[in-house]
Amino acid sequence: MRAYDIIYRKRMGQELTTDEIRFLVRGYVSGEVTDYQMAAWAMAVCIQGMTPRETADLTMAMAESGDQIDLSGIRGRKVDKHSTGGVGDKVSLVLVPLVAACGAPVAKMSGRGLGHTGGTIDKLESIPGFRVELSPQEFIDQVNRVGCAVAGQSGNLVPADKKLYALRDVTATVDSIPLIASSIMSKKIAGGADAVVLDVKAGAGAFMKDLDQAFRLAEMMVAIGREVGREVAAVVSNMDQPLGYAVGNALEVAEAIETLRGFGPKDLEEICLQLGSQMLRLAGVAPDGESARKMLLRALRAGHGLNKLIEMVEAQGGDPSYIRQPIKLPRAKRIVPVAAPRSGYVQAIDALEVGVAAMLLGAGRETKESAIDLGVGVVLRKKVGDPVEAGEPLAELHVNSERRLDEARERLAGAYRIGGERLQEPPLVYGLVT
Ligand code: URA
Repeated sequence: MRAYDIIYRKRMGQELTTDEIRFLVRGYVSGEVTDYQMAAWAMAVCIQGMTPRETADLTMAMAESGDQIDLSGIRGRKVDKHSTGGVGDKVSLVLVPLVAACGAPVAKMSGRGLGHTGGTIDKLESIPGFRVELSPQEFIDQVNRVGCAVAGQSGNLVPADKKLYALRDVTATVDSIPLIASSIMSKKIAGGADAVVLDVKAGAGAFMKDLDQAFRLAEMMVAIGREVGREVAAVVSNMDQPLGYAVGNALEVAEAIETLRGFGPKDLEEICLQLGSQMLRLAGVAPDGESARKMLLRALRAGHGLNKLIEMVEAQGGDPSYIRQPIKLPRAKRIVPVAAPRSGYVQAIDALEVGVAAMLLGAGRETKESAIDLGVGVVLRKKVGDPVEAGEPLAELHVNSERRLDEARERLAGAYRIGGERLQEPPLVYGLVT
């Protein structure tokens, strides 16, 4: 078998065999297939696409390229959750303890963020003492004891994706549904969960700007799950404006705690209920989405989700007083308001621009090596549909340094579109793919 022939066949739009795909992935990890060959192949995939079978083969070849986590020591059906990423996306911080409080074991591996804010792991590090590095045994024991754990990805998980993703990033080949679907699903499969619920975001602040593309990605990932024997459900949700009000690490932790206390933003609560319903259904804890939703609401109202978060934080060495009194979380030195230039209604908030403003303040990493400032970020005061008077604050910048403040302020102000008419709000959830 030769890489050359595989590239050529894909370039001509032919369907590759399982063996050809395995050969390519193994060869790439071992170094026998070069970067330039893999880049040429990825470009051919971008242009010609892949069948569901080829995509499932690619997913499994990548999932098997390194360590695979064995979660069989955890009792019950383990469900994982994954978001394709958005601005102000603190869903996991609410969902993991809430779903666990309803009886479904949640073993969540999370990454660090490269983007507008940190990932879930970075956010949790706002809590002093919180340990994100758990050994596989500690991870399993904690899920059995507490019901949930969130840990950083350890070991050599899916090295084929690490290498291929870095290559795609610099060869204009990120933007391919089969490549994105196999990249995400290979990590979920190697992570060992029995079932996966995906939050596929669509809109200005998402990977998938276009709704049809988001549905195609969701359908592709559900199909991969079916091919490889894992149950997968996907919720396609709106990411035109940020989720909730807070964008920034500790700010998002505080908002997640508020949500678990029952006083969170409605959009954040709703997306957690919809994703959580699917998680409970796939875990076999609830017979259908509707009864799952009722269970989640009961747990939320009774404070069981919040108690579970406290338990999880304690189990991972974190100081639980930060959850009971979020005022103790890291805070920025100064709050700079951004005022409305005119009266009217907020018609749109470009989530990407809000995310960039938060990142400029230090909430996110521009490179893998950058340090994150946990206290800084953006808090929206107005969201789409809200009336606003000229001069009223639209949003706040939470800042620790003057560096890039002007740029951040400009980006944040520019993110808002204000008009005379109140426009119909777009739906929060576009649909469910199972
Ligand atoms: N996220 C991933 O993990 N992989 C992709 O290819 C795109 C987004």
